Amino acid sequence: MSLQNKVAIVTGGNSGIGQAIVLDLARQGAAGIVIDYVVHPEATVELEKEIVKLGGRAIGVDADVSKIEDLQKLVDAAVKNFGRLDIMVNNAGIETRTSVLDTTEDQYDKVLNINLKSAFFGTQVAARQMIKQGGGGRIINITSVHEDWPMPGNTAYCLSKGGMRMLTRTAGVELAPYNILVVGVGPGAVETPINLSTMHDPAKLQKLNSAIPLGRMARPEEIASVVAFLAGDGASYLTATSIFVDGGLMQSSVGL
Ligand code: BGC
Repeated sequence: MSLQNKVAIVTGGNSGIGQAIVLDLARQGAAGIVIDYVVHPEATVELEKEIVKLGGRAIGVDADVSKIEDLQKLVDAAVKNFGRLDIMVNNAGIETRTSVLDTTEDQYDKVLNINLKSAFFGTQVAARQMIKQGGGGRIINITSVHEDWPMPGNTAYCLSKGGMRMLTRTAGVELAPYNILVVGVGPGAVETPINLSTMHDPAKLQKLNSAIPLGRMARPEEIASVVAFLAGDGASYLTATSIFVDGGLMQSSVGL
């Protein structure tokens, strides 16, 4: 139970990697979890119930992370319901799978706002609260192998993840004097809704699996366990960098 007395916010927390993170933080004994969501309130209610079964406490908050006032709403919910904020997981993300030639202004704005603006201001509002209460904190940005590795045909997404890489490094340095650690977690291909089209196309899936040295996509739990580690005491000297959880994908010489 390494996260006893810790209070967390997970953006995009009711599906995919976010949902797995919420559950793992609860299993590690987190005292309270704010689950941010925008769609599927029923999934959030189910998740809240599962957390209660695990002996934890959670509250779902309908908040659009591309808006600063909604991010502040998440922090306020953590403080009001659980008294403090120790762990901010900037996880919410989308992709359009569009190239530099065909991405529209609307697609660009959506991807950049939901992925990068949310992480920037999520870091800001969380860090302000952590500084106010004292005692440090953890900010964990869920990026991607594509924070570093081009994915042709997914340009705005790569841009957003590359921005999160520099956010992690720069905010990590700025916030270190407060003992607020900022770390990026870069998953490879994970069995989540974002990858449904690949998972349902046998030819695409086989091509993807053969490019991954471990030979398969990750389960969301395999990303969540790394996030839980980073939120705990064992990761007290890790900041301003990213950890890739990709089954070796980035080092593979087999192209996607
Ligand atoms: C993207 C997926 C992609 C995976 C591996 C993820 O960040 O969201 O679309 O399959 O990276 O390239």
